[in-house]
Amino acid sequence: MTNIDQVLDRPAKRVLAFSGSVRRESWNSLLLNIAADALRSHGVSVRGISLRDYALPIYDGDLEESRGVPQSVLELRGLIREHDGLLVACPEYNGSVTPLLKNALDWCSRPCDGLGGLEPFQLKPVLIVGTSIGPFGALRAISHLRAIMSKMGAAVVPEDLALPNAQAAFRSGALADPDMEEVVKALTWRLAEQLPGPRKDRS
Ligand SMILES: Cc1cc2nc3c(=O)[nH]c(=O)nc-3n(C[C@H](O)[C@H](O)[C@H](O)COP(=O)(O)O)c2cc1C
Repeated sequence: MTNIDQVLDRPAKRVLAFSGSVRRESWNSLLLNIAADALRSHGVSVRGISLRDYALPIYDGDLEESRGVPQSVLELRGLIREHDGLLVACPEYNGSVTPLLKNALDWCSRPCDGLGGLEPFQLKPVLIVGTSIGPFGALRAISHLRAIMSKMGAAVVPEDLALPNAQAAFRSGALADPDMEEVVKALTWRLAEQLPGPRKDRS
């Protein structure tokens, strides 16, 4: 699929991609990479980051009051703000989102750069994908993340992907089922078409 920006030779829209797991062999990070490639095939520029690189402490109001918001939060929040949309891979721990992911979102919702706490998330298109080794494929965590990010003001794409049985779902770093590749292409297209037009205020 060719998007309108490619046809009109406009600058690519930009999406920030991150996973709620930083485990070396993370299935969710693998799924994130596959979805990011699909998004790139739609003409979107995708920047993948690891939340490990931000080493965020557990949110603590006293820490915030005494030392301010950590520099790494400012950086991550700045990245979220300057991208047109988000692609998030959501693993499931005990039926919900991972603490790593929730903690990062909580920190990034704090007002710290002269803007309202939730400003970077307002109407930001977000696509959620997730996988787990179980039969429900992170379905419960994804629904929680949808609720969390909607509460933060994001425009979460109505469709998402919950890929079950992760250990069988991938082969040689790709999706084992070619039909699933098509699902990911269609899903990432839904995000691509929801991204706002080129922003005037970006470099
Ligand atoms: C603390 C913990 C809780 C988990 N709870 C669930 C769960 O509720 N549902 C599920 O399908 N898998 C659960 N799992 C298994 C994960 O799906 C599995 O560890 C998966 O590989 C995590 O994602 P990752 O590969 O991206 O790190 C849990 C794993 C951990 C470590």
